[in-house]
Amino acid sequence: PERRKKKNRAAAAIATADRGREAMGAAVAEWTVAAVLLQVAGLSLFLYGFFPVKPTLPGFSGAESYRAPSCGPVGCGEGPALPPDQLRSLYRELSEVPHVYDRLVLMVIDGLPAEFVLGRGGKPPAREMMESMPYTQSLLAGCRAVGYHAKAAPPTVTMPRLKAMVSGAIGGFLDVALNFNTQAFLDDNILDQLHTIGYKLVMLGDETWIKLFPTLFYRQDGVSSFYVKDTVEVDFNVSRHLESELAAKDWDALILHYLGLDHVGHIGGRQSNLMTPKLKEMDDVIRRIHAAVTSIQDNSHRTLLVVVSDHGMTEVGNHGGSSYEETDSLALFIGHSVESSHCSPYDQKEALQV
Ligand SMILES: *[C@@H]1O[C@H](CO)[C@@H](O)[C@H](O)[C@H]1NC(C)=O
Repeated sequence: PERRKKKNRAAAAIATADRGREAMGAAVAEWTVAAVLLQVAGLSLFLYGFFPVKPTLPGFSGAESYRAPSCGPVGCGEGPALPPDQLRSLYRELSEVPHVYDRLVLMVIDGLPAEFVLGRGGKPPAREMMESMPYTQSLLAGCRAVGYHAKAAPPTVTMPRLKAMVSGAIGGFLDVALNFNTQAFLDDNILDQLHTIGYKLVMLGDETWIKLFPTLFYRQDGVSSFYVKDTVEVDFNVSRHLESELAAKDWDALILHYLGLDHVGHIGGRQSNLMTPKLKEMDDVIRRIHAAVTSIQDNSHRTLLVVVSDHGMTEVGNHGGSSYEETDSLALFIGHSVESSHCSPYDQKEALQV
C-alpha cells in the first residue's frame, strides 16, 4: 500500500506538471497571437498613414461651378455642353477676372533650387550663380520678373510634383512607388480645363507629361527620363524645337520640361562642374523665349512666361524628402503685368506650390 500511495502521488505530480505545461503553452500561444495582431495593426496604421488613399471627386468641373446648386424642372445643374469658344467667353464673363494674357509658356527646369536664382534668407545668390544666369538676373534686377520660393510638398519627386502642380492636390507616397509606372491622370486639372476651352497645348520634354496626358497635346516630343547620365541630349531634344515653336502662332500653351539640370545634380551634386554651363544654357533658353514673345506685340498673343522647378536638390543632388534644399523650388513670372518701377527681387517671397 505504501508503494501504491507513492506511485499515486508521483502520477498526480506528473499530471499537475502536465497541466502546468499545457496552461503555459496556451498562454504562450495567446501572447504570440496578440503580438502578431499588434504587429499587423501597427503595420496597417503605418501603411494607412504613409500611403493614404486620397478621396477625389470624379469628373471635371464646368460652368456650373460658378452657379449655386439648383434643381429645376430640367434637371440638376446639368446644362447642355457648350462648344469650347463659347465656354471660354462664358468663363471670362463669370470669373470677372480681367483678361491679361492670351498665351502661356510654362518652362519646367527639373530640380532647380530657388536659391540658385533668388538667393536665401533675403540675400542674393552667390556671385558665381548670378553670373551663370545673367539674363534672368537682369530681368529680376530690372523689376521685369517676380520670383517666389515655391515650397514643394514632399514627396519631392517629379511625377507626384507634376500631378500636384496641375491638379492642386498633394499626392501620397504611393506615387513614388508608382513613379516608374505612370498611368494617365484622370483627376480634374488645369491642363484638361484649358483643353476644354479650346486651348491648343504643345509639350516638349520629359515624357512623364505625355504618360499623364496621352491624348491631350496638339504637338509633342517626349524625352525619356531614363538615361540619368545624359545631361546634353535630354535638353537638346527640347531646345531643337524652340525656333519653330516660338515662331508658330497656332498654340495657346507651350510646356517645356528640361531634365538636364536634375541629371547634373544626380551625377555631381550642386557643386558639379557641369552646373554652371547648365544654368547658362537654361538662362539662354529664357532669353530666347522672352525675346520671341515680347517681339510679338499684337493683342492676341500676349504671353506669360512662367519658369518653375518641380523640386530642389540636396548638396549631393538627391531629392525626394522634405528638407529645405529639396522643397525650395522656383516660381518665376515674366510678363507685362508683373513689371513695375520698384521691387526688391531678393526678398524671401514664399508661396506654397501645393
Ligand atoms: C532625342 O531625339 C532623338 C531623335 O528623335 C532620339 O533618337 C533620342 O532617343 C532622343 N533622346 C532622348 C533622351 O529622348
